[in-house]
Amino acid sequence: MITLFDPNTDIDLGTPARDSQVQVTLNIDGRSISVPEGTSVMRAAALLGTTIPKLCATDSLEAFGSCRMCLVEIDGMRGYPASCTTPVSEGMNVHTQTSKLATLRRNVMELYISDHPLDCLTCSANGNCELQTVAGQVGLREVRYGYDGDNHLADQKDTSNPYFDYDPSKCIVCNRCVRACEETQGTFALTITGRGFESRVAAAGGENFLDSECVSCGACVQACPTATLMEKSVVELGQPERSVITTCAYCGVGCSFRAEMKGDQLVRMVPDKNGQANHGHSCVKGRFAWGYASHPDRITKPMIRKHINDPWQEVSWDEAVTYAASEFRRLQQKYGRDSIGGITSSRCTNEETYLVQKLVRAAFGNNNVDTCARVCHSPTGYGLKQTLGESAGTQSFDSVMQADVILVIGANPSDAHPVFASQLKRRLREGARLIVIDPRRIDLVDTVHGRAELHLALRPGTNVAMLNALAHVIVTEGLLDQAFIDARCEGSDFARWSEFVSRAENSPEVLGAICGVAAADIRAAARLYATGGNAAIYYGLGVTEHSQGSTAVMGIANLAMATGNIGREGVGVNPLRGQNNVQGSCDMGSFPHELPGYRHISNEVIRAQFEQAWNVTLQPDPGLRIPNMFESALAGGFKGLYCQGEDIAQSDPNTQHVTAALSAMECIVVQDIFLNETAKFAHVFLPGASFLEKDGTFTNAERRISRVRKVMEPLGGKADWEGTVALANALGYPMNYQHPSEIMDEIASLTPTFTNVSYAELERHGSLQWPCNAAAPDGTPTMHIEEFVRGKGRFMLTGYVPTEEKVNSRYPLLLTTGRILSQYNVGAQTRRTENVAWHDEDRLEIHPTDAESRGINEGDWVGIGSRAGQTVLRARVSERVAPGVVYTTFHFPESGANVITTDNSDWATNCPEYKVTAVEVSRVYHPSEWQKRYQEFSDEQQRLLEQRRHEGSAGAKAEVRR
Ligand code: SF4
Ligand code: SF4
Ligand code: SF4
Ligand code: FES
Repeated sequence: MITLFDPNTDIDLGTPARDSQVQVTLNIDGRSISVPEGTSVMRAAALLGTTIPKLCATDSLEAFGSCRMCLVEIDGMRGYPASCTTPVSEGMNVHTQTSKLATLRRNVMELYISDHPLDCLTCSANGNCELQTVAGQVGLREVRYGYDGDNHLADQKDTSNPYFDYDPSKCIVCNRCVRACEETQGTFALTITGRGFESRVAAAGGENFLDSECVSCGACVQACPTATLMEKSVVELGQPERSVITTCAYCGVGCSFRAEMKGDQLVRMVPDKNGQANHGHSCVKGRFAWGYASHPDRITKPMIRKHINDPWQEVSWDEAVTYAASEFRRLQQKYGRDSIGGITSSRCTNEETYLVQKLVRAAFGNNNVDTCARVCHSPTGYGLKQTLGESAGTQSFDSVMQADVILVIGANPSDAHPVFASQLKRRLREGARLIVIDPRRIDLVDTVHGRAELHLALRPGTNVAMLNALAHVIVTEGLLDQAFIDARCEGSDFARWSEFVSRAENSPEVLGAICGVAAADIRAAARLYATGGNAAIYYGLGVTEHSQGSTAVMGIANLAMATGNIGREGVGVNPLRGQNNVQGSCDMGSFPHELPGYRHISNEVIRAQFEQAWNVTLQPDPGLRIPNMFESALAGGFKGLYCQGEDIAQSDPNTQHVTAALSAMECIVVQDIFLNETAKFAHVFLPGASFLEKDGTFTNAERRISRVRKVMEPLGGKADWEGTVALANALGYPMNYQHPSEIMDEIASLTPTFTNVSYAELERHGSLQWPCNAAAPDGTPTMHIEEFVRGKGRFMLTGYVPTEEKVNSRYPLLLTTGRILSQYNVGAQTRRTENVAWHDEDRLEIHPTDAESRGINEGDWVGIGSRAGQTVLRARVSERVAPGVVYTTFHFPESGANVITTDNSDWATNCPEYKVTAVEVSRVYHPSEWQKRYQEFSDEQQRLLEQRRHEGSAGAKAEVRR
């Protein structure tokens, strides 16, 4: 169901909504109201506009009934029931304001206040404290018990968490924080210790919040009605004055936030209750890790230099784009039209990526545009297009609440997609069954109240073998949904596929040995997936970043079609996108072979539409992919690059190959907020804008397009789209947009899946899931309902081809990589926040057996050598990885995780095989040679930055141009 966006629903209605077709009518203070069965009296009253005082209730949590503040009188019922825990019934007659109730409520409030520091004027919650508000509502005028009895006023504050304080002297033990941690976040990190007067909130697993199991999601802070749990930023800056709704710029969940401001200063980010992807929840990154936006490392002036060993020269925007344009034209004249290209970023908005690819195609005159999705989800685009007909996930996140079986393969949602993980865990607590297929024992395998029924810890690189073995069981044991296949899929393709997977060579007994997983477990997983009711697959980069990434995606789609688990809620194929706008950057035509909306550049009819709209002639052949750009640069053909918001020097595989290619180029233009690793090789630096400084849209993993709204002016003077417009105009290709809404209008006019998308419609709906057009004017939460986008679903053959990356006696271990909750991708943002309190270096996880045989102890420096290179990290000895497998995160450039990853890539899309590298690990005492070189180069670049000549300094510009 599509719910229209209602910005007024920020009012706390006390208890959660109930979903029932049965309406119940009751009277409250003489007024009649009908509400769904199961609704509380408190919520019904609130819907009528009647406020019943409350402290322990809030509408994001189930009612608890502990504070006794919300008492009411109900005709025919004895005593004074709590309105939060009393459900409505037909004909009920409720009184919320009687003199007896007033006395009772005042008495309860007196008790609370007698143990509360009366420092309201200096309290950080002053003006936004529910205790204060309720004291006013009940008309408290005196506290007869005095303040001299036993109290908690001297309890010590816990300030250990970098983002919020816990001041127990203000705690009213309402339990909201404990329930928020359980119900909303699913971490169960809080508990109430002691009884009665001794009751206190405690963080489990540590002396204080920082050392506890708390993951800093902020749900408890949000739920706390007093200043007991309070953001440090509010303590420091005071209560905010206004707010702007925007979208998180970290992961592909796309959480909606209220950016709460005081003047031009951001005070806090509060998850938006109306957010259709997050429903008022958040993780530590979106909620707290926004300090990078005003970090002193921000570069806010355009800069140019002739050579990368020259100091930078600050210049005006005009001078910078004029210089960049003249260099690009010089290179094209000297080396040919195809000697330059551009890279779009999944961190930027749809409008910005659209403009970069337009600039490349229309102003550069070639199709040399690619995006960072090349190195993450390009196999999703290919695999789902081949099988289902559309390069996108099939469901909404909310769909998981209808799933009976959840299969997570090659994804780690609690670290990489935390808010979705909380929803998934909620569904597990309701009884859904979980299968995890991952080489590593990820958190989901064993969470509180939600253990995986099966964890198939396969060897890295064997996903396709595993998927084929699962398919074999489904076909040979008669677990197919034949009616679905007959009605919805291509018969001949299905026949070929079922014959193929039925072969003995694809049995779990044969392939299980390759995967390193017991055949019985594979059979059990296949049976559970095929017969356990609604079954949904969630996958991530652990599927795509392989030499057979596209094959694995097709294997997943095959499983869903074979069991009829697609085309309704609770099922489907769900790629969990890494960055905030991976889906959008792909949708916007960032790939060299596709125009916006995934239309091939060779299609004359489509090309003609763009040619007419853009007033240019477009090249009909696909341009260079990122790896081809590097190869061509090393061969001397590719000389210039416009790179917006992407750090290829850190994020792409085989770092030494990448940096050699960058060094071979003559003009690299980087548009970013920091001098990132790629910018160290750049000749022009255009200051980027953070997500707080611009308007636009992001599209999350559910195809949900959400508004990004400017909350402050760009520190560098231009939003990124304005920088691209300036560059296009300097190149002689006119672009005239006054606002990103005009860019979206152009996108909608040229992209059939976006026809009904506009800023006005986004305002009306809150967000929209594409396709959004005449056939689906309000968007499409679930895809492929009646038929597949391509008509009939197409089973694809998925023969298992082992990766060329093999272990041998020299490289006997398999390295795989992933993320951690507190850091994000290349870490450029999160490394510049307090999140380093949780993760300030990348470590190598190694199984105790492998560690012991190499004499490695926890914390030792270890050298990791592969066929591509060497690096050094500290060891973490852990049973999370199986023997023979090692694992690291890649958030710090000096870790050099990509120095060791190889050039192997997906056969269809060139997505790098980050997840499988044969390595040897040994104890060492010095950094690797690469790390020493990196450090020297980095220090030198930092020095050149610090020595930059400021705008207007004599002689410098002439020097650059010589
Ligand atoms: S911040 Fe989140 S994880 Fe930590 S205690 Fe609060 S609700 Fe639990
Ligand atoms: S910390 Fe806040 S939410 Fe938790 S029990 Fe105390 S007052 Fe209630
Ligand atoms: S889950 Fe993702 S989108 Fe949501 S707050 Fe965290 S990082 Fe941002
Ligand atoms: S709000 Fe109902 S008992 Fe606390």
